[in-house]
This record gives sequence, structure tokens and C-alpha cells, in this order.
Amino acid sequence: MMGKDALIASGLWESYSNKVRERMNNPRHFGTFSEDDARKENLTLVDVVHGSEACGDAIELFLLIDPKSHIIRKARFKSFGCGTAIAAADMMAELCAGKSVDAALKITNLEVERALRDDPAVPAVPGQKMHCSVMAYDVIKKAVADYKKVDIREFEEKAIICHCARVTRKQIEDAILSKGLTTVERIMEETGAGTYCGSCVRPGGHEEKNVYLVDILDEVLKKKQAKDREIIRPECVPFAKLTIPLKLKSIESALDQHVRPSLAADGGGVDVMDIRDNTIFIAYSGHCAGCAGAQQGTLGFIREVLKEKVDPSIEVETFKA
Ligand code: FES
Repeated sequence: MMGKDALIASGLWESYSNKVRERMNNPRHFGTFSEDDARKENLTLVDVVHGSEACGDAIELFLLIDPKSHIIRKARFKSFGCGTAIAAADMMAELCAGKSVDAALKITNLEVERALRDDPAVPAVPGQKMHCSVMAYDVIKKAVADYKKVDIREFEEKAIICHCARVTRKQIEDAILSKGLTTVERIMEETGAGTYCGSCVRPGGHEEKNVYLVDILDEVLKKKQAKDREIIRPECVPFAKLTIPLKLKSIESALDQHVRPSLAADGGGVDVMDIRDNTIFIAYSGHCAGCAGAQQGTLGFIREVLKEKVDPSIEVETFKA
């Protein structure tokens, strides 16, 4: 366990909220319940232990549950973990008391962390210690699985890639595609994944993962490039011989990938208005529409992109109604 002195020495102590510090030293729900305690109150005892291989820490959670309403009446815990794990388990015990087992299952480590903040805008624990709060979340799943007599895998969210920020693979893939992200740093900014302990960013972090942000980025970009090549030059047919719908598809694809993201960043856009032979007629929208100087530069840029990505014979002109 990382003691207070070690935290002070490492400079981390100041990064904890007062609530976390208080609960590290004086947890309110530390303790146990026995079968006798449960019998006296006609409640069901759940007693489970969950450990984190990465931290070498463990939490034992004791719940007294009303078997008729499935409401958690009381919760206590014992922890063999670090201060953050103790504070998180203490808050988790507090938050789940009074809730049904199904509602308790929905409490995430993010909610626990938020409940431990002094100031709603300032994180309660340093980012690198966020993974310690995940253990408190995992132990609840184990307790509910034990109470319901089901396999814990029923509650596992396999799609979660970043457990600290609870970001799924789909959220990451969607962000890469919709915002044209090409670096893990941008994924972190846009989704929050990887911004706490950093274990999910690339191999070599605090905790080993099955898949990392770098893997997902690589996979999505490769798939996208393969798809783009397919759309931009269908079967390598020269542009002049394509049908109008295929011409439009290949132009739109090139604009989506190589032009629109940078125009959108300045609040502008571009639309294809007409295609005659190899000449593409375009119209600007948003901020681009009102700026004659920028239009000339943009026109040249679009022409270069379409020549390079679709066909060298392409010409681009602005549309005049
Ligand atoms: S798992 Fe900790 S930041 Fe992603």
C-alpha cells in the first residue's frame, strides 16, 4: 500500500481531493458483516473478494440485501489496496446502500470519482491513480453476480477499451471516422480515453490490455484507406469512362477525406453542383461562401486534391447559376 508519506514524497498527495484524503485515513464503511448479522435482520449476506492483478490489491465487499425488494440495505468493505482504492471502495459502499442491486450495477468508477471531488471541476485523484477506482466498480459487479447466481461475464462490457474513462471501442471508432483523427493524442482529446492511468494507450503501461488505442487507430485507418482506394478509383477505370453516379461518388469520397475536414475546421464547406465531362462545378458554403480571396486558394487546393486522388484530367470550376 502506498502510504501518505510516500505520496507526499512523490508529490502526488496534493493532487487528491480532501474527501479522498479523509476517506483514505478514516473510511466510513470499513468493516464486515457476518451471516449472523444478516439473519438477525432477515437479510441476505453477499461476501465477495475482487483483486486487481495489475495493482496486487484486493477489496472484500459485504452487502446485506433485502431478498424481497432486492434493495441493498447496508454495505461495508475491507481493502488490501492503496489509499485511492480504499477511498473509492468507501464511496462505492455509500452510493450503493439504499439502491436496488440493478441500480448499484449502474454506478461506474467515474461516478465514484465525481462523488469524491471537492470542486466539481477538479478531479478527485491524479489521473495515474484512476485505475484504482475501477476495482471498486468491478467488485460491485462480482457481488451482484453472486447475489443473482449468474456468471459475472453477463455484466462485462467487453467493448470497453478504457476502463478509467469507460470509453467503448465503438465510441473510439466513431470519433476516428467522424472527426478524421489520425493520432492517439487526438483520440484522447476527443473521447477522454487514455487520459487517466494511460494503460489503454499503448503496451507498456501500468496494466496489460488485450487491445490498445494505437491498435484500434491502426486498424480503423487501414480499413478506411482500403475502402477509400476502392471508392476513389473503382477498378482503375479512367475517370472519363465512369458513369455520372460513380464520378460523383469518387469525387465526394475524395472531398470527404481530403478537403472537407479542413474547410469544416474554419466553419466552411463545399458541395458538388454539376459534373460535365471531366469538369467538376463546386459551390462553397458556410464561411467559405463569403470570402472571395480564400475561394481562389481553396479552388486550387481542391483541384490539386482531385487531380492527385481521383484523376489527373479533372478540372474544377466554381458553379455559376
Ligand atoms: S484504462 Fe486508464 S486511462 Fe484508459
